[in-house]
Amino acid sequence: MAESKLEDQLANQARISGDGAPSDEDDDIVDPWNVAGKADTGIDYDKLIKRFGCERISPELIARLEKVTGQTAHPLLRRGMFFSHRDLLHIITRKEQNKPFYLYTGRGPSSRAMHVGHMVPFMFTKWLQDAFDVPLVIQLTDDEKFLWKNISIEESMMLARENAKDIISVGFDMEKTFIFSDFSYIGQCPQFYQNIALVSRSVTFNQARGCFGFGDSDCIGKIHFPSIQAAPCLATSFPHIFKNRKDIPCLIPCAIDQDPYFRMTRDVAPRLGYLKPALMHSTFFPALQGAQSKMSASDENSAIFVTDTAAQIKKKINKFAFSGGKASVEEHREFGGNCDIDVSYQYLRFFCPDDDKLEEIRQNYTSGKMLTGELKAILIAELQKMVADLQLRRAKITEQEVDEFMRPRPLKFNY
Ligand code: TRP
Repeated sequence: MAESKLEDQLANQARISGDGAPSDEDDDIVDPWNVAGKADTGIDYDKLIKRFGCERISPELIARLEKVTGQTAHPLLRRGMFFSHRDLLHIITRKEQNKPFYLYTGRGPSSRAMHVGHMVPFMFTKWLQDAFDVPLVIQLTDDEKFLWKNISIEESMMLARENAKDIISVGFDMEKTFIFSDFSYIGQCPQFYQNIALVSRSVTFNQARGCFGFGDSDCIGKIHFPSIQAAPCLATSFPHIFKNRKDIPCLIPCAIDQDPYFRMTRDVAPRLGYLKPALMHSTFFPALQGAQSKMSASDENSAIFVTDTAAQIKKKINKFAFSGGKASVEEHREFGGNCDIDVSYQYLRFFCPDDDKLEEIRQNYTSGKMLTGELKAILIAELQKMVADLQLRRAKITEQEVDEFMRPRPLKFNY
């Protein structure tokens, strides 16, 4: 008994501040590899904020962001899909004071097909890039997917390049954006690998286990990998962009499951003489079958892919999008639909740019005036347009353009 208490104490001492691991059976599971909430209610985001030790993005903070950028906040921010942050006020203050910072985000290229949910953080990042007018670095973790999935190095590198095209089609400004694959960039930039080594020396196995839940049978590549996702938070990992300045912090827009990586980085950065990275977290994008089921790139009916045709989009939404409507028209007219669980409505919250239209839909669906078929038709039109735009832009991207985005080079940046 006494012994196990001592063990607990030691384990706690070894923890990264507020390591966010589930502490009781009631906690949702949220880490970079697993997301599972309650079967009936889904993820409790307020509880997650408390457990992770981050902060909710308040209306006041959004107002300050709007003031300093001179822009109306992006719908994803106004509607609470980007809902939590760490040190966002620092970044806003730096903008007010004209001090430099950069944006950092990424993608693990696990499949060729990206679905519309994968595009959400990138759409938001593009808005941030335009609003802040700062450089952006995008990490493609082909090494991560090689370590976690059963794919070869060649395949993961090929997927990284294919995914880069989907990401570029969101409309990033080449003069301000650097996209890199880990396998390629490590050989091009000694400072990147040196920073990886500096981070890896600063985290013990105990801490990594507490933060990520690694077990005895995980390969050692996985245990080391967090230092590779951490290193882009240090500006000196990009000497072609920031020279050798250590005093330029980053802001990371990401889904909240990525937080453990950056919780760890925030612990390490000051010890290495850097500022802590700031974060903006998004909620998870629901699968077609509903918020409680998993969206998976391997189940083509669980998501809308950026490669889907207009006819496929229509068929999938009509056939698979979980409905919060009632079983019969009569019942629906009488009692109305439930927007909270209706996937079509939830998707419109992500993708319908018009606030008034969205509110009208919500009222009409809730009152029963609007039927599920009508709601789905609106979503179908919205998605068809968005996906067609992405496809049009992607078709125009040349191999030379991809090369240029991925070439280490100076970016347009005032500092
Ligand atoms: N690990 C992330 C994934 O699997 C990819 C990633 C790397 C990332 N760096 C990032 C995501 C920074 C967000 C922010 O998708």
